[in-house]
Amino acid sequence: MSRISRRISAIAESPTLAVDAKAKALQAAGEQVVNFGAGEPDFPTPDHIVEAAAAACRDPRNHRYTPASGLPELREAIAAKTARDSGYQVQPSQTLVTNGGKQAVYEAFATLLDPGDEVLVPAPYWVTYPEAIALAGGVAVVVPTTIEAGFRVTVDQLEAARTSRTKVLLMVSPSNPTGAVYSGEELEAIGRWADERGLWVLTDEIYEHLVYGNARFHSLPVLVPSLADRTVVVHGVAKTYAMTGWRVGWMIGPPDVIKAAGNLQSHLSSNVANVSQRAAIAALTGDQSSVARMRAAFDRRRRRIVELLRDVPGVAVAEPEGAFYAFPSFAGALGRPIRGRTSATTLELAEVILDEAKVAIVPGEAFGAPGYARLAYALGDDDLVEGVTRIAKLLAE
Ligand SMILES: Cc1ncc(COP(=O)(O)O)c(C=O)c1O
Repeated sequence: MSRISRRISAIAESPTLAVDAKAKALQAAGEQVVNFGAGEPDFPTPDHIVEAAAAACRDPRNHRYTPASGLPELREAIAAKTARDSGYQVQPSQTLVTNGGKQAVYEAFATLLDPGDEVLVPAPYWVTYPEAIALAGGVAVVVPTTIEAGFRVTVDQLEAARTSRTKVLLMVSPSNPTGAVYSGEELEAIGRWADERGLWVLTDEIYEHLVYGNARFHSLPVLVPSLADRTVVVHGVAKTYAMTGWRVGWMIGPPDVIKAAGNLQSHLSSNVANVSQRAAIAALTGDQSSVARMRAAFDRRRRRIVELLRDVPGVAVAEPEGAFYAFPSFAGALGRPIRGRTSATTLELAEVILDEAKVAIVPGEAFGAPGYARLAYALGDDDLVEGVTRIAKLLAE
């Protein structure tokens, strides 16, 4: 018998967290590292949210266990926010408060999948999806997209990948890692196709508020209402309100799915920290002006990073329309020596760039897209310019 189970041995460490950890270790050792690795806003959480949490700390009601599926006030706030922001009408009982959007992803797949059930996963994909699917006994069927296609999957591609075992289609728009945003027409066509085929949809809406230029956010069950009975929405406060460390996310779905996932959570982790839930209530129901302010800063950085990346030798970049990631191709920088080291893959190139330029980027291999790399531009404007300038200098040598 092996010490570690086969199921857990098969899981890799989150590559994005690994890159972030390595960059932070170098920083701690005194190196001036520019870190494009972590997918989190650099802003502090807005004051009124922090104040609500501070007040919650002093209220003994929050020192106790509360219902595993979430504080009733937060579940109501989530239902109201969903109607307000995306136009999707749901009952509070159709929401489940989770320890971050990440736990919602795990619980959704654990609730929906039986061993061998297939999930269509457009690539490049967020690193957690395939692991969450595998842990649930499911099979991730990767559907690749390209920079030329704007990293958006088509109905034809999905149909070609569908089998009799396909149960769920996974969608995320705006996307991590590519920043791609589907148009309403594209999403509706995909939703109709999924509905006609009787598929479930897990739609990750965590970047709902981070869309730029002419791009617009659309919620799948609003575009295709008949899909609602087989749709799970994943969301959270992390990206919208600069609250990655507070760990509050949620799942929205049909009542039977939410009840079953709630049963799972009642044995897994019980209620999310009450202080964090109170902070999330303040975030969702309070003044929303910080959301627009942070979005404007990300938009400025987005335009800047694209402009800078366009001048880097060997790099090709598509303009991201959402989230806070650029996902350029580094194919032109492979296969030639840089400071005596020739990289055959972006995995190796990312290491060379970290060692030689002290800039952390996440290689595309982590997202099922070798040849690319992800740069999160949720860092300060000056760092952003410094980081891309260092990469450009290194690759120009
Ligand atoms: C696409 C996507 N979904 C969900 C999450 C989960 O975020 P959290 O668990 O911090 O709420 C992330 C975080 O990186 C993400 O990028």
